[in-house]
Amino acid sequence: MRAYISELSKHIGETVTLEGWLVKKRSSGKIGFLQIRDGSGDVQGVASRADLDEVSWQAIEELTQESTLRVSGVVQEDKRAPSGVEVHLGKIEILAISPEFPISPKEHGVSFLMEKRHLWLRSSRQRAALRVRSEVSQGIRDFFYERGFTLIDSPILTPAACEGTSTLFETDYFGEQAYLSQSGQLYLEPAAAALGKVYCFGPTFRAEKSKTRRHLMEFWMVEPEVAFLEFGGLCELAEEFVCALVARVLDRCSAELATLERDRSVLESITAPFPRITYSDAIDALKADGLDVSWGDDLGAEEETALASRFGKPVLLTHFPAAIKAFYMEPDPDNPDQVLGVDVLAPEGYGEIIGGSQRIHDHDLLLERIRAHDLPLEAFDWYLDVRKFGTFPHSGFGMGLERFVAWVTGLKHLRETIPYPRMLNKIYP
Ligand code: 4AD
Ligand code: MG
Repeated sequence: MRAYISELSKHIGETVTLEGWLVKKRSSGKIGFLQIRDGSGDVQGVASRADLDEVSWQAIEELTQESTLRVSGVVQEDKRAPSGVEVHLGKIEILAISPEFPISPKEHGVSFLMEKRHLWLRSSRQRAALRVRSEVSQGIRDFFYERGFTLIDSPILTPAACEGTSTLFETDYFGEQAYLSQSGQLYLEPAAAALGKVYCFGPTFRAEKSKTRRHLMEFWMVEPEVAFLEFGGLCELAEEFVCALVARVLDRCSAELATLERDRSVLESITAPFPRITYSDAIDALKADGLDVSWGDDLGAEEETALASRFGKPVLLTHFPAAIKAFYMEPDPDNPDQVLGVDVLAPEGYGEIIGGSQRIHDHDLLLERIRAHDLPLEAFDWYLDVRKFGTFPHSGFGMGLERFVAWVTGLKHLRETIPYPRMLNKIYP
């Protein structure tokens, strides 16, 4: 019977056939051990000279790392094995011999591994990270589906800048200037007037000119947008969302977290409510800690790390100076030079994982802000229609998938949380 390694514990005592790759082997005289990977998991195949025909025994000799093979054998319980089973092989068939695999079990430098990203994916830590990513993606879809949100696929080719003009990737659109989308938000707001609770989840693009471990040029962002939701409700939605995703990873990715040596206790302590601090209080706290910051500064990685480390939980940083935030953020009625914006900062040095706000819903105020930001009015004419035809308070946020996955897995650099990272001056493979 053809089986997958992940399901072998259901087949104890049965004879199964597996197809996969050789991870490593060792043999001595009368016995050989093959570690086999089939995508669903890893298992050890035990080959005894006495049980095998000559061709099969010879195959052990010939197999190299990453050669493909088909084996048959009897599944036996083995409490010491990570998979809980091993397979006592009766037949080994070589499907293809791999020449020397560039990534051997020894240490390699990261730039080499990034060049071989297409092969590096096969390593156990990379597989674990991508499985967590996949689980988080599904968790995101389930979270919004279960709460009655409608998925709105926002376009990737756009005529307008959502998040400032300094990080745009430009392209020609039949003689017109177009950009790769920085955010789906501008397209979600009109959709919220049609469907109430909406979200988008897709790739977004920023030509970030600096090289950091927290920035990718192409990253996936999930963005909910909710009609009649105001700032307080937005903060609660962000909290509930982060908690639900952390719980989902703890529940379904135990093996992956173990492979990545992630400290689960840190994640287990993530429960709502999260601590909240206004930007103004944050500046005072940072000053008291001896950091060189003043009111009006945009907080960088160092400040975010210092701030979040005071709490050990994600923290909601709110009420920023209007001048350092996007044009569409609703002013705080009590302090009109500040906006009803919120960033969720993850602890352990991961910094901003979510950015969001209540949106300006007054037509004339929004028009004034578009002008003040020197944005081309023609490109925002349609966006202003949302405020013209039955305007309504609304709020939303964006979470970078890779930022969240990096934090939850404890991976230091975003490049390992996406299958094929796009980084400064690097688009290969
Ligand atoms: O704070 P940002 O720029 O917010 C927006 O784009 C809003 N339009 C979202 C909304 O309200 N609908 O980006 C949101 C999140 C950040 O918190 C971060 O997690 C992630 O997107 N992000 C990046 N992730 C990886 N690489 C980059 N270069 C990123 N830039 C932003
Ligand atoms: Mg932001």
